[in-house]
Amino acid sequence: MFIKEIQKRRTFGIISHPDAGKTTLTEKLLLYGGAIQEAGAVKSNKVKKKATSDFMEIERQRGISVATSVLAFIYKDKKINILDTPGHKDFAEDTYRTLTAVDSVIVVIDVAKGVEEQTEKLVEVCRMRKIPIIVFINKLDREGKDAIDLLDEVEKKLKLKISPMTYPIGMGYEFKGIYNFLKKEINIFSSVNKNKISGLLKYKNLDNKDLLENIGSLSIKKLKEEIDLIIGVYPNFSKIKFLNSELQPVFFGSALNNFGVQELLDTFIEIAPQPLEKETDKRKVNPTESDFSGFVFKIHANMDPKHRDRIAFIKVVSGTFKKNTNYLHVRLNKKMKFSSPNTFFAEKKQIIETSFPGDIVGIHDTGNFIIGDTITSGEKLNFKGIPNFSPEYFRYINNADPLKSKQLNKGILQLMDEGVAQLFILSLNSRKVIGTVGSLQFDVIKHRLEYEYGAKCSYEKLNVYKACWIENISKKQDGFEEFKRIKHKFLAKDKKGRLVFFADSAFSLQMSKEKFPNILFHNTSEFN
Ligand code: G4P
Repeated sequence: MFIKEIQKRRTFGIISHPDAGKTTLTEKLLLYGGAIQEAGAVKSNKVKKKATSDFMEIERQRGISVATSVLAFIYKDKKINILDTPGHKDFAEDTYRTLTAVDSVIVVIDVAKGVEEQTEKLVEVCRMRKIPIIVFINKLDREGKDAIDLLDEVEKKLKLKISPMTYPIGMGYEFKGIYNFLKKEINIFSSVNKNKISGLLKYKNLDNKDLLENIGSLSIKKLKEEIDLIIGVYPNFSKIKFLNSELQPVFFGSALNNFGVQELLDTFIEIAPQPLEKETDKRKVNPTESDFSGFVFKIHANMDPKHRDRIAFIKVVSGTFKKNTNYLHVRLNKKMKFSSPNTFFAEKKQIIETSFPGDIVGIHDTGNFIIGDTITSGEKLNFKGIPNFSPEYFRYINNADPLKSKQLNKGILQLMDEGVAQLFILSLNSRKVIGTVGSLQFDVIKHRLEYEYGAKCSYEKLNVYKACWIENISKKQDGFEEFKRIKHKFLAKDKKGRLVFFADSAFSLQMSKEKFPNILFHNTSEFN
């Protein structure tokens, strides 16, 4: 029974550059899963995306995204959990963290725009972590790049080894259907209703008379040539290679028109991995172990400033998570039980009794959790793989209301626990420095400190090119001590007390690397 529940689960994320069609595809997957009846229900994502600098919008999106953080539905007996990833690049770190909780990803690419910057960055993170990747090339109903050229671009820019699973017949106005390499069949789209699942005409034989009538001899000739070309150039799909992150299947379609989405979903549930084992500081934890373990990958503040409660999202890694059961919060070495854990189904949040590996549980938190915390049935271990990444923007944060310094400090710490940004303390003068991946976060922090904690802050510029976590790999301390002495003005500690070097330019970083070969400069906080 327990094993069956694990085998049923598919937990994944959809990633893309904004506007490639992530929201639309999510919505269509829900439509196929019967979780929604009509498209248009996941509009909230859209609100979120469009909100950039308006504070009320920021507040609204925070509220909404609790509901869309996990979208679960059942499709052909599989329980599918889609974890939402923010589209805005300033929230990229949120996406990186969510990627620690997925077992696979679907990457959406716009056929006209090809591989874009945000896609490259996100796919790199997935590649590093060996997450199985499926590529969906979207918007085939519009004129775009030539399909063969695009396959080449995906392979080169994203550094993937691809295996096309479907191939488009025509494009833009001429987009008529797709060829399915696995099933060796042709699906011609027979009707277009963007909000409902449309009909398909299936043909097994490329020389079928009906098919010829439907799409014309020219299209068939071109298709035959392209199929031959693809079979000659690209490797056949191998599930084992895909699961080992050595081969990535590619699909074509139009999410908006429900073209090619069924092929994607049907293949997805056949090939996407069930919940996988996960590394800890002690050992690997297998989902089939009977003892519960899980970790916090996201913390979400609630909207109501009077109740400063938050929701901590926990990915269940092994065993079963049960309501009102004592669990160990490993970092705090504290037993805790949870009376109203939430699960997410379609668009609704509901209280659950039991959750299984692969599921996401939402817990009301009054400040006990930080991102990366591990919870277990009692074993003392910590899940790995939730590093901090080097931020890109840095500013001193100052107290602008001396009467509210306590509130300010508390607010800063809590927002950092939520993962909104990173806090560093300069060794030289103990000043606080905030580092973020996007400039929008500074506005969010200022606004939330004021609105939720009644504190005021101001920022001051600080010239930092990159923050690097440093590691001395020499047995001797001499070189390390010299580095610390020379660079003492540029050293800081992160939230966990780890030493960080603030390089003020690419040149100074390079010089430091050359001068101190026994010191490693890491872009993420987790390097061993
Ligand atoms: P995102 O979450 O990745 O940011 O993208 P989203 O789904 O919001 O899609 C971005 C725009 O692209 C939307 O248009 C959406 O309708 C459109 N789109 C998505 N898939 C397809 C497709 O297969 N074909 C075509 N032609 N368009 C597609 P919008 O104008 O921004 O929004 P809306 O007013 O249409 O809702």
